Amino acid sequence: MSAKLKVAGVVGARPNFMKIGPLAAELEKHTEDFEFVLVHTGQHYDPLMNDIFFSQLDIRKPDIHLGVGSGSHAEQTAKIMLGFEKVAVELAPHLVVVVGDVNSTMAAALVASKLGIVLAHVEAGLRSRDRRMPEEINRIVTDTLSDILFTPTPLADENLLAEGIERSKICLVGNIMIDTLIRFLKLAANRPAVRSLGLEPGGYGLVTLHRPANVDHPDVLGGIVEAFLRVAEELPLVFTVHPRTVKMLKASGLYTPLESEPGVRLIEPLGYLDFLALMKEAKMVITDSGGIQEETTYLRIPCLTLRENTERPETISQGTNLLVGHGCEKIVTEALRIIGGESKKGGELEFWDGKVALRIVAELKKRKDMIMAPAAERLAPEVQV
Ligand code: UD1
Repeated sequence: MSAKLKVAGVVGARPNFMKIGPLAAELEKHTEDFEFVLVHTGQHYDPLMNDIFFSQLDIRKPDIHLGVGSGSHAEQTAKIMLGFEKVAVELAPHLVVVVGDVNSTMAAALVASKLGIVLAHVEAGLRSRDRRMPEEINRIVTDTLSDILFTPTPLADENLLAEGIERSKICLVGNIMIDTLIRFLKLAANRPAVRSLGLEPGGYGLVTLHRPANVDHPDVLGGIVEAFLRVAEELPLVFTVHPRTVKMLKASGLYTPLESEPGVRLIEPLGYLDFLALMKEAKMVITDSGGIQEETTYLRIPCLTLRENTERPETISQGTNLLVGHGCEKIVTEALRIIGGESKKGGELEFWDGKVALRIVAELKKRKDMIMAPAAERLAPEVQV
């Protein structure tokens, strides 16, 4: 029997969990070929941002927890690197798999590549071309260092090729988050989330907001809140509030006006199933999240994204997404249009089909010999003559 390929998967923050879930499950079906170890950095730690996803998405408990918590970017990244370096040396995996674009993704990528461990990035090749976004830096660094780049769309391949990444490293597999969505859609549909909030299917808007560019500046946040208050006069809004946003709303005196508006329901972050249930029946979604742009496109629910750019442009060209920035008037105008019945219908995206984890595992099997080759062989420089 040939040796098993030891894979360390790394997660840290909420949007990572729905990306590692399907891959962990698929790797665990192939125990003759793979040994899978799950490492959680602890970037997100509140039960509602964390534990509930593991239980609902049926992801096994992390084998190792680094418990790093919050901090400045440098502090958080450094703590993850220190913690993960120790773990990676002890575990000595053949392959580290990172997902998405959060600080945990980049920190683990740096550690793996400096230790000479083969690095795979799931959701490679996304680019907003806006380096004010911490995630864009995380994406560029992670992709530059990765040995295997699993991409969600053909455009992501093009982005990587344009940056000089070798074609042989790139594998177009599709969008892994949609694997999770497809798997849990039925279960979500049975949740009473919509009715228990006193809402009617198609009769409310769902709101999320957490990006520093939107929530960290009281002027910007004030304009957005003003827009929500105006839209809520026409359509009830359910706002699931990220911990960072709660802090900023309270600090800038904007929490009370929102809380007092009868058309606005402020609620804590929801688990995956309830959020999916609410998203699926919403008249529209207003968000600044990355993944929600994709989920609404898959579900064909109109989405207004409070950003000036997106690393997921296919959701605009082929989906239901529209960028509206963070100016009050534009948000209100576009929301009223949707409420009035004018909305993008969207279409299907290639490879967003629930089989992404399958394709990744097949590809890892094909590349097993390369991945398990000694670092001295893999990393030897080409002889220059
Ligand atoms: C992180 C990701 C972002 C992702 C988002 C999803 C980075 C750079 N950003 O942003 O890409 O879209 O997760 O939520 O990695 N906090 C809590 N409890 C928690 C986690 C955070 O209270 O469990 C608060 C803390 O005050 C913390 C702040 O939220 O300082 C920000 O957390 P952090 O992990 O730095 O970034 P997010 O804004 O969550």
